[in-house]
Formats: sequence, C-alpha cells, structure tokens
Amino acid sequence: MKKIKIFSPATVSNVACGFDILGFPIESLGDEMTISKSDNMGVRIIKTEGYSIPLDSKKNVATVSAEKLIQYLKPDCGFDIEIKKNIIPGSGIGSSGSNAAGSVFGINKLLGEPLTLKELVKYAMSGEVASSLTEHPDNVAPALLGGLVMVKSIDEENIISLPVPKDLFCFVINPKIEVKTSYSREILPSRVELNSMTKQVANLGSLIHALHTSNYDLLRSSLVDNVIEKHRKKLIPFFDEVQKKCLELGALGCSISGSGPSIFAITKGEENAKKINTEVIKIYKKTNIDFSTYVSKISSEGIKIIDSI
Ligand code: HSE
Repeated sequence: MKKIKIFSPATVSNVACGFDILGFPIESLGDEMTISKSDNMGVRIIKTEGYSIPLDSKKNVATVSAEKLIQYLKPDCGFDIEIKKNIIPGSGIGSSGSNAAGSVFGINKLLGEPLTLKELVKYAMSGEVASSLTEHPDNVAPALLGGLVMVKSIDEENIISLPVPKDLFCFVINPKIEVKTSYSREILPSRVELNSMTKQVANLGSLIHALHTSNYDLLRSSLVDNVIEKHRKKLIPFFDEVQKKCLELGALGCSISGSGPSIFAITKGEENAKKINTEVIKIYKKTNIDFSTYVSKISSEGIKIIDSI
C-alpha cells in the first residue's frame, strides 16, 4: 500500500463524569486525511482544505503524533499528509484528536500494521500536546477504536471498550466560537474538594455499571459532572439554558463536550435526540452565534478507510 485515504471521526470526550478518560465518536462528522509514502524521509503536511490548521510540522497535531510513531518504527520512507478539515479547531469535539489519531492510523496501515490500534493510542496522544499542551487520550482512543472507550492508562490492557446499549443516541451542538483546549484547561483548579471527588467517583462507577446492565435510571443519575463543568460553563454561551432544556425533554444526561464550547446530551432513542435538536436550535437561533448540531448514534466505528492504493 502506497497511499491511504481515511475518515477520522469527531469525538465527544469526558462524557460528564469521565474527565480525560472517557470518549466516543459521532457518526456524521469527521476529517478526511490522505497519507502517502514518500522518498523524502520525515513527515509533512502537503495540503489542507477547509478550516485552517498549522502547516508547520512542529505545530500540527498530525505531524507531531506521526513523528513520535516514526521515531519508534524507523521506517525506510517518509510520509506526506493531506487534510480536509471539516471539524472546527477549538470546538470540543475532538478536532485535534481526529488528526492526531488519523496520521498514526494511516502510517501504521501503510507499514503493514506493525502496531495494534491500542498500541497506537500513546503515539496519537502525543500529538495532542501541540494543541492542548497536555497529553490526553480521551479523543484519540475512541477515534481509533470506535465505541465508548475508557482509558485507565495507555497500557494496552487498560484501554477498555465499554458496552453501549444499542438505543443510546447523542445530540451535539457546536456553537461556532473557538475555545482553546489549553485555555479551558488552564482555568481548572489543580485541587478538587474531597466531596466533589467522592461524587465524581460514585458517578463514574455507577455509569460503568449502568452501561453493563442497560440500566437507564442509573445512567440518568450518573451522567453528571461535579468537578469540571462548573468552571468551564462560563465559556459557553447559554450553557445553562441548553442543559435545562435537554434534561426537561428527557435526556439521560447533558454536559460539556470535551473542553467546550460544544454541548452534548445522551438520549434513550433517536426520537428523543431529534426532539432535543429541534428545541435547542430554537434557543440558539435567538442568539447571534452561528452553530451546527448533530444527532448520532454513539458510533461503534472509529477511523474508516475510504480508499487505498
Ligand atoms: N479531556 C480533555 C479536556 C478533552 O477536557 O480538556 C479536550 O478536548
């Protein structure tokens, strides 16, 4: 294989109580990336389309993660990367994770798959530093593996695919304002109150149990963020109003997607997600902020190959 074209999905991370460890892909949004073998050693971005991203290989998440992988695999060729950027940077739906995961996925395929998808997580994660100044795996792991993924640590055995009841859907609204992940992390306190920690741990534990037992009442009471949301929601216009509406309409949970400004809700069934979509659009239409919304399954698919030669 000399060239591969892939679709790398947008992802919802944190998922309320799983800061930096939980995430899932959504179906209808992602970036297209084409990765080609080259006689020139190293890795570079040769073309971008769509939303603007850095071309400098030290600043682009795709090349930063690819460099790490190349340092390890030491291939006898280089790689050229083209990116059609459909996910807005700073949107909170894994814009950087999509490209950080996509480049290592593509290079690994072109080299005959020396590494497993789980082994790729740590290389993909290293690319996140270029945008958020920290390595966090909760976008790249679900982008690579698909489904709802919990990353306890980056060792293969600690990257855990969780069961997802088949009627779980999500609604996402992406207000078109940029919130840099680095800033959204900077405003978080470095210490957490003991009682907030206890509530968050209880919610995460019961969320995992609810997923294993398809217990929707328990899902509803567990999809709550007691630690992060209260600090970040001030960066997101109309967050409280949207969250209230989603919960009133029956969402199982609603919180900030990743580092924001996107907001997600999890629903039982597609109809509920569509109803929420209609009503939240009404809220945002009253503002002068441009936005997009998505209704999707909790997608079981990660990165998909579109074409290869
Ligand atoms: N877990 C990361 C954060 C996701 O919340 O900062 C960034 O998209």
